[in-house]
Amino acid sequence: MNNQWKVIEHPLIKDNLTKLRDKNTKKIDFAASLKIISNLLIFEVCKNIKTKLKTIHTPFVETQSPILSQKIILISILRAGLGMLESFKEILPNAKIGHIGLKRSEEKFNFIQQYYLNLPEINDNDYVIVLDPMIATGNSAIKAINEIRKINNQSKIIFVSIIVSKISKQNIDQKIKNISFFTTATDPKLNKKQYIIPGLGDAGDRFFGT
Ligand code: URA
Repeated sequence: MNNQWKVIEHPLIKDNLTKLRDKNTKKIDFAASLKIISNLLIFEVCKNIKTKLKTIHTPFVETQSPILSQKIILISILRAGLGMLESFKEILPNAKIGHIGLKRSEEKFNFIQQYYLNLPEINDNDYVIVLDPMIATGNSAIKAINEIRKINNQSKIIFVSIIVSKISKQNIDQKIKNISFFTTATDPKLNKKQYIIPGLGDAGDRFFGT
């Protein structure tokens, strides 16, 4: 199945995205806006988690009521994915959490170096949510998805970002199938160093104040 690309539009998301883009936004406010956007995205991102009926007893009667029937796995792409992880952890406290550390080579911007990998067990029925605010070339996203599929290639993978570049969509669609992408904006260009334009700068640096 082809990838699905969904841009979530909402006035609160737009307003906070403007704060993220603004270079005068301070570290603390950048983190706050990233958290608000992540919180707003969770609702949409989790919409297709399957449920099953559970028999429970209310104070009055026995009844059947839905509970989640899929295990949730959260995978943050280091570093910047950590800026979104807190929100997702809060709403999905039972989720298992994995990390993939990916770094762009200083000399060859297209080359992605993997410096850390720690993923939980993933089963066929799991709902895997990958977090990385910026999809610039798409190469990190492709690498992360391939790592996840080495563990399990049947699970549902949802990739959540804040901004994707136009070119990354083409790159990803050529190399990877069957992923649902959620984002809040598609930006037109990359600069020579492969940063997204207009973008918001380096999301990790802005979140961590480095
Ligand atoms: N990663 C970032 O943090 N920003 C970009 O513009 C591209 C990749």
